[in-house]
Amino acid sequence: MKVLTTVAEVKSFVRAVKKAGKTIGLVPTMGALHEGHLTLMRHAKKNADVVIASVFVNPTQFGPNEDFDAYPRGFSRDCEKLDSVGVDAVFHPSAEEMYPKGYTAYVTVDGDITNKLCGAKRPGHFRGVATVVTKLFNITEADKAFFGQKDAQQVVVIKRFVRDLNMNVEVNMVPIVRAEDGLALSSRNKYLSDKEKKAALVLSKSLKEAQKAFKSGKKSVTELKALITEKIQAEPLAQIDYIDIYTFPDLEECEMIAKEALVALAVKFGTTRLIDNTILGGE
Ligand code: PAJ
Repeated sequence: MKVLTTVAEVKSFVRAVKKAGKTIGLVPTMGALHEGHLTLMRHAKKNADVVIASVFVNPTQFGPNEDFDAYPRGFSRDCEKLDSVGVDAVFHPSAEEMYPKGYTAYVTVDGDITNKLCGAKRPGHFRGVATVVTKLFNITEADKAFFGQKDAQQVVVIKRFVRDLNMNVEVNMVPIVRAEDGLALSSRNKYLSDKEKKAALVLSKSLKEAQKAFKSGKKSVTELKALITEKIQAEPLAQIDYIDIYTFPDLEECEMIAKEALVALAVKFGTTRLIDNTILGGE
């Protein structure tokens, strides 16, 4: 696997790939890789000739009181994992390489899809994500890119700016990868104590219950929200940030679920904020 740290190196790698008539699959990550990330890599391998992963803890998507400094980093371990699934090249730039002195260009996605859920709770977050992902699309000239449903609102935002700005990349969403006990894999799970990890199982359990209730005919958003809220509130270590249900993929308000709906939640365990979701009516 090639390790590339500058934009110029990636561009020269990409030029050779394109000259050979091959397609490029891109998987952007912030590292501390786990099976969820590696599943994205495998999807990319299956669907593109050459796979580029990026490992970059993007400063512009973190708020001033968030975990940018503490975010887990371990590039050599990440490289071993990427190599083991056959990734062709990894792009691991410095912050200065991505945001040189005098940097001023940002991509913003306004309106109904960013004024709720994590967009409302983390001001500026999706501006940082949209900007870095646009840069990665431009640098790698990716034909296809792969993102996890774990960050469902992120996928909605990315698909929207790709459509609105007429970008030449196909955005694919890959289902959430969970541990055997149901906990959605996340780099931030490393922050959890054993007790908190156990308590966090309430997230997947409550989403599963919502799925069950929906399948047996419960379509009311208020009722489904109440069911999940009650279950999570019963866990003493859980502090709810939000529990919401919107139509998917447009993220519009609804009272009764007609087609697909995203049930999304963010819950804190100690200082660690976890997110999880499920799509009702999607299977
Ligand atoms: P990061 O949190 O490292 O996630 C990288 C990709 O892995 C995202 O598309 C995320 O949705 C996916 N992912 C994480 N956990 C997953 C799981 N359990 N199952 C399936 N997919 C999972 O998301 C980001 O980085 C950043 O915002 C980024 C897009 C790289 C821009 O900086």
